[in-house]
Amino acid sequence: MVARAHKLKSAWSIPVTEPPYHDRDGWIWMNGEFVPWRDASVHVLTHALHYASAVFEGERAYGGSIFLSRQHSERLHYSAKLMGFEIPYSLDALDAAKQETVNRTGLDSAYVRAFAWRGSEKMGVSARENRINVSIAAWHWGDYFPDKLKGIRLMMAPWTRPAPHTAPCQAKASGLYMICTLSKHAAENAGFNDALMLDWRGQVAEATGANIFLVRDGALHTPTPDSFLNGLTRQTVIKLARARGIEVIERAIWPNELASFNEVFLTGSAAEITPVAEIAGMKFTPGPVTIALLDDFAALTKRKNAA
Ligand SMILES: Cc1ncc(COP(=O)(O)O)c(C=O)c1O
Repeated sequence: MVARAHKLKSAWSIPVTEPPYHDRDGWIWMNGEFVPWRDASVHVLTHALHYASAVFEGERAYGGSIFLSRQHSERLHYSAKLMGFEIPYSLDALDAAKQETVNRTGLDSAYVRAFAWRGSEKMGVSARENRINVSIAAWHWGDYFPDKLKGIRLMMAPWTRPAPHTAPCQAKASGLYMICTLSKHAAENAGFNDALMLDWRGQVAEATGANIFLVRDGALHTPTPDSFLNGLTRQTVIKLARARGIEVIERAIWPNELASFNEVFLTGSAAEITPVAEIAGMKFTPGPVTIALLDDFAALTKRKNAA
């Protein structure tokens, strides 16, 4: 499967052997057809590369079937709309293409990346006529955080989530990840796994690629998603918690409350449910609520076509 091995260093300085993403075997769905993995490239003068005019989805297949595929396709369409363009493929066509992409990998568990971007017809800030391109790739991607069940360590991020009138914060848009990468690098440089971002008001928002939940007195607290993605995993976990009779409180959460919680975890398609052991010196232990939800999420994703 792997043509050439490249020695890389992980964030924890453990050498890992992983080929770069442009140099792998397989197929990528690109603008309606499957192309050999290495041929799925774009020109350097592509609008999206210069101006971040791109939206994407991160999804996981379990047992060969994509979890919440339709909801991810809908969000891709919605993100594009917020960015002022239209995806030239229907929800049915996207769902079918994503599933076929997973099927071609032959993998049972896969990560799926759907991506839509403005092409290279015109450069400059204005690019209304540029072609909208769409690609779908799938590959094996294990736990987003190595050893995640031990609990990860979060630093406070040096960047804050922009206000809703500063950026289209409900879009899963590439440009919004600039501050996520900066914050994640800052955290890794300081020996943490990830960073907890506040919003423009100073309220707790989310991690750099996942939502946050906090537990106190058996109740689940989570910030109201008014300046960041209302993650599909977040919505799933809220449903699972309520089905168990766990109280879920969506509200403004301030950093000075953090120490009063016993359990903390992150949720996301890549992160799934990831317990948090520390936020900037404050310690937390994965407890009964986190463990129950980890079990429920595992049971749900094992079911074919779970929704
Ligand atoms: C910034 C950010 N917030 C939240 C999430 C969680 O969203 P979801 O559960 O839909 O994957 C993600 C992952 O997609 C993300 O990148």
